[in-house]
Amino acid sequence: TISRRTAPDIRARKNSDPIVMLTSYHAHTAALVDRYCDVILVGDSLGNVMHGFETTVPVTLDMMILQGRAVMRGSQHALVVVDMPFGSYEASKEQAFHSAARLLKETLCGAVKLEGGVKMAETIAFLSERGIPVMGHVGLTPQSINTLGSFRAQGREEGTWQPIEDDARAVAEAGAFSMVIEAVAEPLARKITETVAIPTIGIGASPACDGQVLVLEDMLGLSPRAPKFVRRYGELGPMIEAAIEGYARDVRSRAFPGPEHVYAMKPKS
Ligand code: KIV
Ligand code: NA
Repeated sequence: TISRRTAPDIRARKNSDPIVMLTSYHAHTAALVDRYCDVILVGDSLGNVMHGFETTVPVTLDMMILQGRAVMRGSQHALVVVDMPFGSYEASKEQAFHSAARLLKETLCGAVKLEGGVKMAETIAFLSERGIPVMGHVGLTPQSINTLGSFRAQGREEGTWQPIEDDARAVAEAGAFSMVIEAVAEPLARKITETVAIPTIGIGASPACDGQVLVLEDMLGLSPRAPKFVRRYGELGPMIEAAIEGYARDVRSRAFPGPEHVYAMKPKS
């Protein structure tokens, strides 16, 4: 049997070959992502992608558990990291442990991810010291949309780097095994990567990061809107639309099903 990658394996990839990470929320895409990626993220972006919410704020722990289990069933090799959703960890380190333990016990994933830097450092240490590997997430933190006001890249103005650098340092020193850096000025992401001891995984960050992540549906061209930092590696939207259009046409003209798609009677015995 083949054992999965672990959080310590990923932690050991600092200044090494780039860590490849993509999101997946379901078994069949997880199986494909698993063939080429080191880490599969069951992101709370499933709130946008699967459920049509405008933000990740409405996502629940039960939604993350259901999709986390699907991804674990679909994959064999990659480390599966499941996002802690808004409201499941911020109140206290004990609340965070309770929620994260549910994610590990009920999905069998190998790590969790949570948003926030200095303010979450105590929680990251509490979990890490108690058997729960934590991936940090700094820079743009989408769960804070209601206090941020908009999804804008961070650290692009002179004199705005310090709090983001403090967050990254706090996450690393608290014992996280790696951290996502989302939507920050490129030179800032580069500086953080050069400064912290753990791998950084960029999204809208820098090619200098120790790894990269994208939302699968964004890079496949399935999302109606995608951020500036997405490179489209496919155009699945038009492909799926053409297929659905063809099916509808064939059903209406009775061209589908064909003789090969129906069951004849068995000969009399
Ligand atoms: O939820 C998500 O997909 C994420 C990635 C964009 C890093 O957190
Ligand atoms: Na997320």
